[in-house]
Amino acid sequence: MEKRGKIILVTGSTGFLGNAITRRLLASGYKLRLLIRKRDNQTPLQSFGREAFIKDRVLGNWFDEYLQEQQFMGADHAFVKETLYDRFLRNIEIIEGDLPSSGLGLEVKVYSKLAREVDEVFHCAAVTHFETQGTDEHMAVNVKGTENVLRFANCEKPKRFHYISTAYVAGRQDGMICEHEMVHEPLFNNEYERSKFIAEQVVIKYAKTNDIPFTIYRPGIIVGDSRSGATGKFNNLYLFAKILFTMKNFFTHHENEDGDDVTIRVPGDPDAAINLVPIDYVADAIVAILKSKESVDKIFHITNPNPPKLSELRDLLMPLLEIKGIDLKIERVLEQKKLNTMEKLLLRQTRSYNSYLYSKLRFDGSNTRKVLTGTGIVCPAMTKELVKVLMDFAISHNWGEENREVLQRA
Ligand SMILES: NC(=O)c1ccc[n+]([C@@H]2O[C@H](COP(=O)([O-])OP(=O)(O)OC[C@H]3O[C@@H](n4cnc5c(N)ncnc54)[C@H](OP(=O)(O)O)[C@@H]3O)[C@@H](O)[C@H]2O)c1
Repeated sequence: MEKRGKIILVTGSTGFLGNAITRRLLASGYKLRLLIRKRDNQTPLQSFGREAFIKDRVLGNWFDEYLQEQQFMGADHAFVKETLYDRFLRNIEIIEGDLPSSGLGLEVKVYSKLAREVDEVFHCAAVTHFETQGTDEHMAVNVKGTENVLRFANCEKPKRFHYISTAYVAGRQDGMICEHEMVHEPLFNNEYERSKFIAEQVVIKYAKTNDIPFTIYRPGIIVGDSRSGATGKFNNLYLFAKILFTMKNFFTHHENEDGDDVTIRVPGDPDAAINLVPIDYVADAIVAILKSKESVDKIFHITNPNPPKLSELRDLLMPLLEIKGIDLKIERVLEQKKLNTMEKLLLRQTRSYNSYLYSKLRFDGSNTRKVLTGTGIVCPAMTKELVKVLMDFAISHNWGEENREVLQRA
C-alpha cells in the first residue's frame, strides 16, 4: 500500500513568512491544508475560485523560479511543469476560518474531519503591526487564536505543533537571550511583543500538559530575499530607507543655500544591534528544523549571529540610496522641542520602531546551529552587496506602493 504523505495545517500562508514556508513545504512534498481568513466581502477566493487564488496568493512567480532553480528545464520541461503544477494544486486544500472564533470558525463536521486527517500544525498567522488601535486585536488573534489552534492540535489525535514566535518576546531586556522558555515577563516595547510573549507561554504550557510535541521558532527582523531582494512587506528597515530616499529628492529640489550638509538627527544608540534576517534564510532554516527529529520540545532563534549596528546600517544605506547633502546623526537623547520639521516628520512616521533603535539584545543560536550544521543553510551577513540587493528591489517596486494599488484594485 502506498504510504500516505504527511498532512500539515498551515495558518498565515497569505502573509510574508507563511507564504515562503508554504512554498517550501509544498516543494518538500507535504500535503497542505491552508487555513485562510474568512472575510465577509468578496475575496479573491470567492471571486476568482480556488485555482486562481492558489496561483495568485500562494504560488505567485515562485513556481517558475523554483523550476529554474531545480534545473528541470530539460526536453520535457512543459511536461514536468504541468505535472508539478498539478501536484502542487492537488496537495493544497483551502479552508476559510477565523482564528479567534471558537472551533476556528469552522463547521463542526469540517473541523472534525480536518482534525482527523492533519498530522502536524504550523501556526504562523498573527496580527503583526505595532500600533494599538483601541480594540484588543493582538490579544484576540495572537493569544486567543493560538489557544484555538492548540485545541485543534489536541482534537481527535495529538498533532505536532510548530509555532512562529519572535525573538522580540525578549522585550526590553539587554544582553544575550537563550533559546529557553522565558521565566520572567520582561517589559515590552508594544502590544505585539506582549501578545507574542503570552502566546509562547500558552503554547509551552498547553503542549506540556497535553503531551503535544512542540517546536517554537523565534525569527529576528525579517527583510527580503538575499538573492533577489524580493519582499512581501515594506516595514522596518524599508520604512526608514523610504523616508530618507524621499527626503533626498526634497533636498535635490531645494538646494541648501550655503551648500552645507543639512543635519538630520534621529533617536537611537549608534551601537544598537539591528537583527535583520533575510526571508530565504528564515524560511529555509525553519523548514529544515521542522523536518529534524531533534527539534521536538525545543526553541530556536532564527536570528542574525552578526547583526549590523545602527550606525553601520546608516553608513551602508546613505551611499546606496545616493543621499548627498544630509548628515544623519544618531543621538541617544533627542530633545523634542528643538527638532526641525524634517526631524519631526521622520520621528512621527517611525515612532513605533523607536525602541528597537536602542536595543542591545543578542540571541544565542546554539539549538539552530546544531540542527543546521551540514545543511549549508547559514544566515547571510548584512554586507553592502546584500543591502544593495534589498534596496534595489524596494526602489524598483516603489516601496510597495504598487502592491498596495494592485490589492486595492482587486
Ligand atoms: N515579519 C517579521 O519581521 C517577523 C519577525 C519575527 C516573527 N514574525 C512572526 O512571523 C509570523 C508571520 O509574520 P509576517 O510578517 O509574515 O506577517 P504578515 O505578513 O502580517 O501575515 C500575517 C498572516 O496572518 C494572517 N491572519 C491575521 N489575522 C488572522 C485571522 N484573524 N484569521 C486567520 N488568519 C489571520 C494574515 O491573513 P490575511 O492575509 O488575511 O491578512 C496573514 O496570512 C507572525 O507570527 C509574526 O509574529 C515576523
